[in-house]
Amino acid sequence: MPWRYIRNVHIALIGCGKMGAALAEAWDNSRLTSRIDIVEPSDLPISSPHMHHFRQIADMAEARMTPDIVVIAVKPALVSKVCDQLARFLPDSVPVVSIAAGMTLGTLQKSFPAGQPLIRAMPNTPARIGKGITVAVTKPDIFVTQMHLAHAALAPTGAVEWVEDESLMDAVTAVSGSGPAYIFYMIECLVKAGLEAGLPHELASRLARQTMIGAGALAEADSHTPPDILRQNVTSPGGTTEAGLSVLMDGRWQKILQDSVIKAQTRSRELSH
Ligand SMILES: NC(=O)c1ccc[n+]([C@@H]2O[C@H](COP(=O)([O-])OP(=O)(O)OC[C@H]3O[C@@H](n4cnc5c(N)ncnc54)[C@H](OP(=O)(O)O)[C@@H]3O)[C@@H](O)[C@H]2O)c1
Repeated sequence: MPWRYIRNVHIALIGCGKMGAALAEAWDNSRLTSRIDIVEPSDLPISSPHMHHFRQIADMAEARMTPDIVVIAVKPALVSKVCDQLARFLPDSVPVVSIAAGMTLGTLQKSFPAGQPLIRAMPNTPARIGKGITVAVTKPDIFVTQMHLAHAALAPTGAVEWVEDESLMDAVTAVSGSGPAYIFYMIECLVKAGLEAGLPHELASRLARQTMIGAGALAEADSHTPPDILRQNVTSPGGTTEAGLSVLMDGRWQKILQDSVIKAQTRSRELSH
């Protein structure tokens, strides 16, 4: 069954912090889930009739309600411990998705039987409002139905892309995982530039933020138009935009962004285990 038509899924979520809560909220707003079991030591930041809260994995195991799929959203340092605990009661047909940065399929595999369907995914924070993008990778022996189920679990948070080469995940982390922070920093820079140009702070903030929102929305609406064409469409020869871009496009900015992505990619490799 294609992932789009999957319904009535029982999902278990391990860890309900920033990203876990974003996932749970997205599932709750979709027609995907019939039941969401959430293991989280603290009180839940969200609630709904579909959600069942357990403080520990052992409590969920005791309830003897086997989920269709498990999503792990704890900090990377806790993932192996969580996987070891899950492996004690989870049937080996249940797909396990980890969204922990740097946790490789090889590391996840150490906790589970060889046949367990394992998926490593990297979402980003716009997942909270269904505008995220997730990149996922899995083992070659996974059944297509299990992959569809994982896709369906990730899709309520936004777009989902699959890659076959796990080594790409470090670059993915550097571009889309860390990317929202780069964009927020660009808004900050545009605000400061507006202040330098003489605008009051509140107006500069509103202009910078709304311009980023509007440009993003336009890029989404014209999704088949390449970004350089979108740029050219708003650049009249001899006009103000062209004057501004003559500085922005002198190569320094491209180099800085490139260096930032390479540094984040290197850090992701260092953190991988
Ligand atoms: N935030 C992002 O932008 C982002 C993007 C992509 C991937 N990720 C990945 O997503 C994962 C979660 O990140 P986050 O930012 O959501 O972190 P977070 O806000 O710290 O959430 C982690 C949650 O896990 C809970 N937890 C700790 N031990 C647990 C256990 N044994 N069983 C169940 N829950 C447990 C924590 O509870 P306590 O606070 O009570 O300890 C916390 O609520 C990380 O692995 C990160 O690499 C995050």
